[in-house]
Amino acid sequence: MSLLSIHDLCFRYGEKSVLKNFSLEVEEGEFVSLLGPSGCGKTTALMLIAGFEYPESGSIVVGGENLNDVPAYRRNMGMVFQNYALFPHMSILDNVAYGLRQRKISKPAAYKAAEEVLSLVQLQGMAHRFPGQISGGQQQRVALARAIVIKPRLLLLDESLSALDRKLRVEMEVELRKIQREVGITTIFVTHDQEEALTMSDRVALMRDGSIEQYDQPSVIYEQPKNLFVAGFLGKANFLKGDIEAAQDGHYSMRLEDGNRVQFGVPRPLEVGSSYTIGVRPEKMEISATPTENATMPGTVSLVTYAGGVTQYEIQALGKEWMVQSQNATVHGAIFDAGQQVWFGWKPDNSLIL
Ligand SMILES: Nc1ncnc2c1ncn2[C@@H]1O[C@H](COP(=O)(O)OP(=O)(O)O)[C@@H](O)[C@H]1O
Ligand SMILES: [Mg+2]
Repeated sequence: MSLLSIHDLCFRYGEKSVLKNFSLEVEEGEFVSLLGPSGCGKTTALMLIAGFEYPESGSIVVGGENLNDVPAYRRNMGMVFQNYALFPHMSILDNVAYGLRQRKISKPAAYKAAEEVLSLVQLQGMAHRFPGQISGGQQQRVALARAIVIKPRLLLLDESLSALDRKLRVEMEVELRKIQREVGITTIFVTHDQEEALTMSDRVALMRDGSIEQYDQPSVIYEQPKNLFVAGFLGKANFLKGDIEAAQDGHYSMRLEDGNRVQFGVPRPLEVGSSYTIGVRPEKMEISATPTENATMPGTVSLVTYAGGVTQYEIQALGKEWMVQSQNATVHGAIFDAGQQVWFGWKPDNSLIL
């Protein structure tokens, strides 16, 4: 049985329907991300789980207990907000001990527990400083320590890394996952950053407009997106939309909306006469100076973007702009120049049928 089981949650702010039949199952110890564009209802979903808002219909069950009528302070959840919300006039130690003192734990016991958690987040030397005297990354750790010291049933994190600069954020991602595994705490992490969701999570719930479009492991949600929205939100893709006109040897000819025709293979049969959307990720494409088994389409490179580990090519062909990414496997950097004629394409297995 899942630790958290949310079923058909509906919620509105006034006239505006914010969550629509939102359902989610989270296993004990799991790290789950709620990912989605700004305004899709991620924070609202956390607010309902934490008990700061109540649903219009549907249920939230934790460990078999229906929480619909349980107030926030009885739910025993740890929440970290984007702005950390530390108490500026209290020392780090008092900030972390606060939740325990609220629960009537004696001062020595609360301080002892707070010190233990501070050493878990590697801030043992900072206990007597004030929030204004430590860096953003350290404040982030204090907020995390304050949330986990109460041993919550669920840890709820709302965009809690997005205020950090990129390098620190990546460090904290690794750190947070390490701490989460060490403590074994079931975590729901809200983010609008697809890379963060993919690298950190056991499972990702991709939200759109108040409900979940797809809920899967990172590799499944990226490699087998269920629809156009999921494929477009997570990573980049070239999309082909049109009618299948003919089939030959497992390859199909599609008439695009602008009248151009493109040939490609797919992992499972398509119906001739029907219309489809096909997606291909840039890194699944091949680019070559001469035609090869998979690079069968001629095109012209219009833009070369060197990005260290990879090079991104923009190719003009069939009235379209294509994105192709290639690994910089040698020390010579980009191999093709803007203006150059190239051949490109992809293996049938790499066609996503959306
Ligand atoms: N307190 C509020 N009152 C009215 N509308 C709100 C309130 N909070 C959020 N909303 C609206 O609810 C929708 C979802 O918001 P939110 O859950 O914050 O989205 P996200 O966290 O995914 O960016 C948005 O359209 C937002 O404008
Ligand atoms: Mg939000």
